[in-house]
Amino acid sequence: MSQNIAPSRNKLKLAVLASGRGSNLQALINACESGEANARVVLVLTDNPDAYALERAKKHGIAGVAVIRKEYKSREEFDARLADLVEESGACLVCLAGFMRILSNIFLSRFGGWVINIHPALLPSFPGLDAQKQALDYGVKVTGATVHFVDEGVDTGRIILQKGVDVDDDDNVESLSVKILKQEHIIYPEAVRLIATGLVKPPGIVRSRP
Ligand code: GRF
Repeated sequence: MSQNIAPSRNKLKLAVLASGRGSNLQALINACESGEANARVVLVLTDNPDAYALERAKKHGIAGVAVIRKEYKSREEFDARLADLVEESGACLVCLAGFMRILSNIFLSRFGGWVINIHPALLPSFPGLDAQKQALDYGVKVTGATVHFVDEGVDTGRIILQKGVDVDDDDNVESLSVKILKQEHIIYPEAVRLIATGLVKPPGIVRSRP
């Protein structure tokens, strides 16, 4: 575990955006604290002041900020505020972890491709909301989780990692979500590690990893 002794200045700084319970945030924090991810979460941002993700940040001494959409005149101003906060934190990789808003180019253009997301299906199948229900309704026998770079589309950016799970005859949205989430918690930190160690490079690099 050579990463465990890597000097902290070499760790990739992460900003995690989460709207809810933040179990993926927790998986990232754990992988950072164990040294596995070669990264450090420096900021948690949410659009939901009641998000449990904020509690998780607090427990780990990580700055957490709620940015409330209705306090901003436009989506552009909201996105710009989020981008300002990420920039001020010094984070160089933005990890979306159950962030329930589509980020515009106002935000994305500030980070030159260094934005990633986790989605509970095997993209390009079942993008958007309720991916587990979409998979069950379609009747697929295998679905899973995907980590991908974020572009302006909905779940359309380049894929970094995927992991499949079997859909059993007696699965429902809840049981399938649990199975998928277990894989999410494995592949999200692993994707961060791949980027942090330079094994995976963001698309259209406009800046390299500091
Ligand atoms: C996960 O299923 C993730 O794939 C999706 O939103 C959910 C967030 O869960 N984008 P959590 O807040 O990380 O527990």
